[in-house]
Amino acid sequence: MNLVDDFLEYQAKTTPYPLGIPIDKAQGSYIYDTQGKKYLDFVAGVSACSLGHCHPKVVAAIEAQIKRYMHVMVYGEFAQEPAVALCKALVDLLPSNHESVYLTNSGTEAIEGALKLAKRATGRAEIFAAHYAYHGSTQGALSLWGTETQKQAFRPLLPGIRFIDFNVADQLEQITTKTAAVVLETIQGGAGFIVPESDYLKKVKARCEAVGALLILDEIQPGFGRTGPFFAFEHYGISPDILVMGKGMGGGLPVGAFSSSKTLMTLLEDHPKLGHITTFGGNPVIAAASLATLKELRDGPHLKEIEEKEILFRKLLKHPKIERIQGKGLMLAPILSRPELADQVILECLNQGLILFWLLWEKRALRISPPLNISKNEIEEGCDILRRVLDQL
Ligand SMILES: Cc1ncc(COP(=O)(O)O)c(C=O)c1O
Repeated sequence: MNLVDDFLEYQAKTTPYPLGIPIDKAQGSYIYDTQGKKYLDFVAGVSACSLGHCHPKVVAAIEAQIKRYMHVMVYGEFAQEPAVALCKALVDLLPSNHESVYLTNSGTEAIEGALKLAKRATGRAEIFAAHYAYHGSTQGALSLWGTETQKQAFRPLLPGIRFIDFNVADQLEQITTKTAAVVLETIQGGAGFIVPESDYLKKVKARCEAVGALLILDEIQPGFGRTGPFFAFEHYGISPDILVMGKGMGGGLPVGAFSSSKTLMTLLEDHPKLGHITTFGGNPVIAAASLATLKELRDGPHLKEIEEKEILFRKLLKHPKIERIQGKGLMLAPILSRPELADQVILECLNQGLILFWLLWEKRALRISPPLNISKNEIEEGCDILRRVLDQL
């Protein structure tokens, strides 16, 4: 069997030109291909492998759980220790208005649940999202996509979706008593790792409170410590009504969740019953991996080191071809002068053993979202490669 040929032949793809690197194994901050080539991973499965690849504590938690039970009943029927312990640990970390957690299979599915909860709670249907947002690919989440080109081929989508510009406080007046929810990424990912300006999120929250709309923050990417605190909204002095999580929460396994007050969450239980259901959400093996990840991030040294790692990246990536570095913590996007240059840099870095990646909309950006436990030596090694490639091109 030729892995790459069979990949191209049999597995559905998302673009006509996938990278197609044949993977043999991955450990820590490194991925190895089937030819034995070693890559330093500055992308971490697009922010999913928060503790690097195959972290021993995550692997041990998975191994212990698969020996006990793997799947026994659909979500929400039986009390299963890994899922319950994960929800409890999350509630302990979250602000007091988050008392209940619904576990899902992916971030997108958690967004869908959050949208339904907001509609159910307010009896309203209008939802605001931001231009250049990304919240997932199913039809509800796709309706929130912040660019029309991506949506056109799949219309009709959800009615009642309206858009505002991220960071433009003047537009918040459009949010009214007709609005069920405002959905924002705390830090916009695909748009170029755009950080909210000083009081923007406070203003959004105040407007939502004034008109009785709910604020849903999507922390699927910046959550679970990527910017330093456990959740990025902690930087901005607010708490959302509904929080959506995913990606790094699973330590490399597929997971998502949304949390809210108990008063809101119980609305999914009745009138109608089964307001949101899933077979595998809260799966015990995945919940065990997620709990091990949460404990290591909560109790280990990693989150305290994020700020100094960000400073190191910013220091090492001073280069005439880098115009600026957007983002926060270990969610960094060096911006080059042209998209074509970014393409060349990403491909040549790959050639020289460093994995970078693209962002969805900001095509001049290089994605840097490494494992949170990446070492300073590994940061230096990767930045050396990147600077060398920038010099060569
Ligand atoms: C901000 C944000 N929301 C939602 C999603 C969708 O999550 P998933 O791919 O787990 O469904 C992503 C994934 O890239 C994301 O970055």
